[in-house]
Amino acid sequence: MTTPLLRPLTLGGVNLKNNLALAPMAGITNAAFRILAAGGGAGLVVTEMVSADSIKYGNKKSFRMLDLRPGEGPVAIQVFGADPATMAHAAQAAERAGAALVDVNAGCPVRKVRRSGAGAELMKAPLLLGDILSRMVKSVKIPVTVKFRVGLEAGENLGPLLARVSEEAGASAITLHGRPATQFHTGPVNLDYMAETAAAAGIPVFGNGGVENAAGARALLEAGCAGVAVGRAAVFNPAVFSEIAAGLSGGEMPPPSDAERVRLFLRFLELNAGIYGEEHGLARARKLVGYWLKGLPGAAAARGAFMSLKTLKEAEELLIQYTR
Ligand SMILES: Cc1cc2nc3c(=O)[nH]c(=O)nc-3n(C[C@H](O)[C@H](O)[C@H](O)COP(=O)(O)O)c2cc1C
Repeated sequence: MTTPLLRPLTLGGVNLKNNLALAPMAGITNAAFRILAAGGGAGLVVTEMVSADSIKYGNKKSFRMLDLRPGEGPVAIQVFGADPATMAHAAQAAERAGAALVDVNAGCPVRKVRRSGAGAELMKAPLLLGDILSRMVKSVKIPVTVKFRVGLEAGENLGPLLARVSEEAGASAITLHGRPATQFHTGPVNLDYMAETAAAAGIPVFGNGGVENAAGARALLEAGCAGVAVGRAAVFNPAVFSEIAAGLSGGEMPPPSDAERVRLFLRFLELNAGIYGEEHGLARARKLVGYWLKGLPGAAAARGAFMSLKTLKEAEELLIQYTR
């Protein structure tokens, strides 16, 4: 019997209802957004990356990023850093915070992160990556996972090697972004490289990059990935996971109407206000408003007006026109 493309997954003893994950996105995948994605069908959600150094030094903002809320489903807390002891300490903080998994960021291309030796820089240093992972694995009971890219430069396929290093260090799963670090988040993914990594790994590999619908997810699953992680398509539509699940099972679920999307945005604003307070919650939603209003009449003006809102009531007054 062939394995169904959509299926439950167990990662290091943690059961996920399906193999569709929300990819970590700094400035976006906070608790409020994770609740929407879990409600929208994601089997696993991942936090924004949190600095292991900041956790070590007791930075309040970073500790707040470890706050998990009811309704998120299984959550992976993603940490970044380059020092094995500091990363092991961060893993313990993630475990205490209630994370189901702790994920290592070994793919971030941002210069500031790479200069500190973390993120994608770890792809150049497989021994250090292995050391970080094994120290973390020994320090916590929850499974440790890792996210990296196919390579640093175009034409480079580091995935199979890094997958073996991760597996030997005791990692329970890998998320593989199919674009090289120099490409940041644009351009096509390298499906051949992803297939080679999935074949080399004895642990589940979540393919990631450019998935917007069931056809995109199917391509990665058919290349041998055990699961799929979705980033930006979920920002535009947090229910994309249910849509992909329906498509993979041979059914169909229509995309949400504009009105439904804006109503979801209002729900996000409410959740954000519950976490950060109204004014700060609205300020934190500014990054998302462009995605949510895209293509609607008068979107540019509404987005501009959104930037100076201070209360939920004002937000509702501005957006209600789009919810009918
Ligand atoms: C705004 C933004 C923030 C991101 N932040 C993170 C992060 O904190 N950790 C991480 O591993 N990847 C991060 N990524 C990369 C995504 O997890 C994902 O690999 C990438 O967006 C490709 O997937 P997509 O094409 O489905 O968006 C970020 C991407 C974006 C667009």
